Amino acid sequence: MEFEDLVRTRRSVRGYKPDPIPRALIEEIIDVAKGAPSSMNTQPWHVHVLTGKPLERVRERNTETMLGGAKANREILTHGEYEGVHRQRQVAIAIKLFAAMGIERGDKVMRQDWVMRGFRQFDAPVSLVLTYDRELDPGAVVHFDLGALSYGLCLAAWDRGLGTVVNGQGIMRSEIVREEAGIPESEVIMTCIALGYPEDDFPANTVKADREPNDRFVHFVGFED
Ligand SMILES: Cc1cc2nc3c(=O)[nH]c(=O)nc-3n(C[C@H](O)[C@H](O)[C@H](O)COP(=O)(O)O)c2cc1C
Repeated sequence: MEFEDLVRTRRSVRGYKPDPIPRALIEEIIDVAKGAPSSMNTQPWHVHVLTGKPLERVRERNTETMLGGAKANREILTHGEYEGVHRQRQVAIAIKLFAAMGIERGDKVMRQDWVMRGFRQFDAPVSLVLTYDRELDPGAVVHFDLGALSYGLCLAAWDRGLGTVVNGQGIMRSEIVREEAGIPESEVIMTCIALGYPEDDFPANTVKADREPNDRFVHFVGFED
């Protein structure tokens, strides 16, 4: 795909075919994505690729734990609830997704079902768990590096007909992911990315999230025009 088409057509995928993804294809995607820039070329990332039984166990335990009322237990610092303009954008994408899925505002059961899909990483056949070397904490620069890798993974997958969604919900209970994936304590779990072939009929997969016009966030300095 042409680069611009790739970027403009990519969107988060939240409904997947169960078909397994060949390891060679995942290797290829990671190979492209690792061309991402990183601070001083430190390449501080690790990618743990889960499928089959271990991923099923993560899903089951995530579901059980979150349904049991447990709080999130992430290893990276988070900001708490979004407010103001960030909250507005968060609500806007939720409205679009719920409208596509036919979930009514007051339908608590279906809303809960949607949240639980997130904890199951949308039942994707593969989960890429991204971690970094703990000795680089406190993060910030290393988080930036992993962001660059993440976008590369999403684009390289999309270019091959595969969908992704960066999925904070999937590592909400990081201790479960750590245990099931055998992630050493020397690494910090940053996020995970669900990966698989998009389910064509899944309504939320058609949703395109809005972006702000440039004049809301771009500031040109020293230009003549
Ligand atoms: C760090 C990060 C965490 C995310 N976590 C979730 C998540 O837990 N559940 C979800 O449905 N989408 C999640 N997303 C996807 C965003 O909602 C999505 O990227 C955004 O709405 C823009 O839509 P697009 O990717 O389709 O362009 C996450 C994205 C990022 C970058």
